[in-house]
Amino acid sequence: TPSVGLVGWRGMVGSVLMQRMQDAGDFATINPVFFSTSNAGGAAPSFADGAGKLEDAFDVETLAKLPIIVTAQGGDYTKQVHGELRSRGWDGLWIDAASTLRMNDDSIIVLDPINRDVIDAGLSGGVKDYIGGNCTVSCMLMGLGGLFKNGLVEWGTSMTYQAASGGGARHMRELLSQFGTLNAEVSTELDDPASAILEIDRKVLAHQRTDIDATQFGVPLAGSLIPWIDADLGNGQSKEEWKAGVETNKILGTSGENHVIMDGLCVRIGAMRSHSQALTLKLREDLSVAEIEKLLAEDNEWAKVVPNTKEDSMADLTPVSASGTLDIPVGRIRKMEMGPQYISAFTVGDQLLWGAAEPLRRMLNIATG
Ligand code: HSE
Repeated sequence: TPSVGLVGWRGMVGSVLMQRMQDAGDFATINPVFFSTSNAGGAAPSFADGAGKLEDAFDVETLAKLPIIVTAQGGDYTKQVHGELRSRGWDGLWIDAASTLRMNDDSIIVLDPINRDVIDAGLSGGVKDYIGGNCTVSCMLMGLGGLFKNGLVEWGTSMTYQAASGGGARHMRELLSQFGTLNAEVSTELDDPASAILEIDRKVLAHQRTDIDATQFGVPLAGSLIPWIDADLGNGQSKEEWKAGVETNKILGTSGENHVIMDGLCVRIGAMRSHSQALTLKLREDLSVAEIEKLLAEDNEWAKVVPNTKEDSMADLTPVSASGTLDIPVGRIRKMEMGPQYISAFTVGDQLLWGAAEPLRRMLNIATG
């Protein structure tokens, strides 16, 4: 039974990861060693028998004894610890949710239902760093794997509707607090059906513009949106938008004439934990909608094709319907006016499951299996 160091298991992504590992029975096949950045010596969690005491997550000597380390602690931790471990000659497997190492030449982005071949080639070629992809990219590829894996996409744009959870736990709380204070601002008027809607709207807007707490997001998200996610790269593109192109191709292992051009706009909206995205894809072939839907449905067991009707889309293609499940609904598939090779699609995925935790626990299983 391999010993596996677990770091960052208490945070939001880490908690989802621990829950999935318990549900899937992963603790039966590993000997978990729990680390903490703040509470070394405290009791380890009771997910697994005999887990003992928490080790110090900055104790590189203890970490270096482990053949596998899984971390959801975040990019700063990775920056601080990973390089030091490697420079001491540690050659264990590092499985990480953070973006820090993702685009390194000697790392692999893990999303095994899409790139098991790339992962297997990495393992046999001695690659040691296995990093989860950007949530939006992973969720897109899980939904549209049937087109991307078969080399059918020439280019695509992804216009995203990203949930508060992508910012972190505090961002989710802030969104809900904002909804609450907006409501409180006009609750008397809302109770009175005869009150004037424009007066309600004026009060809401005044609150959004003056005294709403937007410490985490910087500007109000409730009742608004934020058309920029992650760093400004200085060329007009956000870092989140850049990731769509580079990570998609790295995950798929596509380059040269197989390179897929991906670009778009990333937008934060007031959803809780599921990212959505509207895609325009230029296909390399003129496939019928029925053929496309068949390819998507057959690609992996989580992609769920939603018939392109109003009723089905409203019921099954929303953050509310996808959140908390491993399903990746994909719908709104139709030919666009630009021509027979241009299609639209819309897909939704739980940003904390396929977008973060699930690829990591699956990589751990591949590594130990
Ligand atoms: N960058 C993502 C977001 C987080 O802000 O939604 C997960 O990769």
